[in-house]
Amino acid sequence: MPVFLFLIIGMIVAASIAFIVAIFSFTIWSDLKGAPFVKSRKDRIETMLELAEIKPGTRVLELGSGDATLLIAAAQRGAYAQGVEINPLLAWYSRKKIKRAGMEKQIRIVRQNFYECSLAETKPDAVFLYLLPGTLKKLREKLYAELPPGTRIISNAFRIEGLIPVAQENNVYAYHLS
Ligand SMILES: C[S@@+](CC[C@H](N)C(=O)[O-])C[C@H]1O[C@@H](n2cnc3c(N)ncnc32)[C@H](O)[C@@H]1O
Repeated sequence: MPVFLFLIIGMIVAASIAFIVAIFSFTIWSDLKGAPFVKSRKDRIETMLELAEIKPGTRVLELGSGDATLLIAAAQRGAYAQGVEINPLLAWYSRKKIKRAGMEKQIRIVRQNFYECSLAETKPDAVFLYLLPGTLKKLREKLYAELPPGTRIISNAFRIEGLIPVAQENNVYAYHLS
């Protein structure tokens, strides 16, 4: 085999291994920080948008926004949306998806740990969460401390310990901050 071909194959293999290691470590990192990446199901997304009462002009914040599928669905209903995502690969991929959908003016992705971001800055009417129960419990204090009464909190799959939902449907829980 010619040397240059050997080098090229070696470089491709090394780059692939580096890519796989990066994805693997970012996934473990996200998991340790709050929750692994698992997409919300399509039917649950519909329920979440309905319980959040998304209308044109609604301001939405998603903590742990994954690949931005929910934010794009909210923006298609006229919402202004911001996602906070700790995984740099997901944040990069989300921005690509948003650009492809032509929604850069409506959706913003912040690559950050949601425990460290200011929730009040975006003045959200609704906050979306799909996180593990322990993470939801830790976030509860922050939600109450930084957001005004009436803010709608929508949690996919898991209840927020210590709060009573105002509605629940299809394993999605809606809360109104008091
Ligand atoms: C279960 S996934 C939900 C993804 C998306 N919200 C959805 O419903 O399809 C949780 C997401 O939260 C992100 N995440 C976990 N801990 C985080 C943290 N401390 N700050 C920001 N994002 C975090 C993960 O990287 C992952 O994308």
